[in-house]
Amino acid sequence: MTEGTSLTGLRERLVAEVLQTSGIGDERIAAALRDVPRHLFLPHLPPEDAYLDDAIVTKRDAGGQPISSSSQPAIMAIMLDQLTLAAGQRVLEIGAGTGYNAALMRHIVGPSGTVVSVDIDADVADRAREHLASAGYPDVTVVAADGAEGYPPGAPYDRVIATVGVSDLAPAWLHQAAPGARIVVPLDVRGSQLAVAFGRSGSGGHWVSRSIAPCGFMRMRGSLAGPERTVVLQPGLSVMLPDGLTLADGHEVDGAALAAFMAEPPAGFGTGVRASSVQVFWGLGLWLATRDRRSCSLTEERPAGTSPGLLARAPLADTGLAATAGIVDSGGIAVLTADEIAPAAGPRQLALEAAGFGPHGAELGAALAAHVQAWDAAGQPGAARLQVDAYPRSSADEPDPSTAGHALLIERAATRFAVHHT
Ligand SMILES: C[S@@+](CC[C@H](N)C(=O)[O-])C[C@H]1O[C@@H](n2cnc3c(N)ncnc32)[C@H](O)[C@@H]1O
Repeated sequence: MTEGTSLTGLRERLVAEVLQTSGIGDERIAAALRDVPRHLFLPHLPPEDAYLDDAIVTKRDAGGQPISSSSQPAIMAIMLDQLTLAAGQRVLEIGAGTGYNAALMRHIVGPSGTVVSVDIDADVADRAREHLASAGYPDVTVVAADGAEGYPPGAPYDRVIATVGVSDLAPAWLHQAAPGARIVVPLDVRGSQLAVAFGRSGSGGHWVSRSIAPCGFMRMRGSLAGPERTVVLQPGLSVMLPDGLTLADGHEVDGAALAAFMAEPPAGFGTGVRASSVQVFWGLGLWLATRDRRSCSLTEERPAGTSPGLLARAPLADTGLAATAGIVDSGGIAVLTADEIAPAAGPRQLALEAAGFGPHGAELGAALAAHVQAWDAAGQPGAARLQVDAYPRSSADEPDPSTAGHALLIERAATRFAVHHT
């Protein structure tokens, strides 16, 4: 087999996997995945690894936290589908990363369209430019700047996409959006992330979600950085606090104390609830995030060949990464744990438990188990029936009083978000 046909084969396999995982049937997205050579955007990897449906970290900060990556192709496909791209459109991307997503978008909008991609790190932008040129897309404009300002010289844009987690909608993106524009962002909802496609409301004064999908992106840095903070408890294991370093009980988080709590055996609480890992992450995670000020999430990196660590029983345990959700205060932390059960028929299920660590572990574990049971009693609601409305502070529009009563209101510097079930 020649090198060319083997790369074609790798790409065909990736396309088949992405279409199956994402459920996307758009032939333009499939054609872009088929034609754009992802290995040229990840030149440090053997091509076989570049064509796996995985996110690949390409840069870390001094503390070892990932700050740039090529996102998982399946979630890229889902967000491109949400973006409803068409030939001839002008597109602005926040978060150039490797440049691969910009190339996919350039493939879809074609030579009559334009793609501008902004990255806050000049070295990342330089490499994205090189990758795009080597892959045959030298006309994508890559800008090294804080994406919060958009890119006025290329405006107005028919489509705006952030491929980095945001907690606010930058006024510049809205001003630079053409009439009829669509804006797709991974929006932080108290630590849970939702890929939200926004379109203008009928009045034009605010933005309403047209579609929502679960996602997980690294967070935006710079002037629009959100309040969430990640604390490393030990190498590879970190906790993400949606509201910053001050816990709900008013104390500052102490990572060393949390690590010491988690090194001791936990108090375990059964819940009697079964769910799939997708339901846990995009249903229960969101339920916890919106109902308990103490909510947090934990992730543990698992380099190949190492044995599972403290999150050995996490409900999400992929090769390379384990993740769970929980609640935390200054005296302890409780996390969701799970045992996989293979029912005689149907998809694999998780039997959910709560594990409470530290002096407050029993109280927190019992509270977490009660949340799981309440979520189950409510029918295990997920992200699919959510609606997110975004009200720019510069607009006279206000959240509808008929939904405001049962909506979660998220107040950000530039935008008020109302999150509610439809
Ligand atoms: C997940 S990566 C983007 C993946 C990329 N679209 C690709 O196809 O490879 C997120 C990127 O957002 C960038 N970023 C973070 N904060 C930013 C900001 N304020 N403005 C622009 N880029 C930012 C990071 O440097 C990182 O490269």
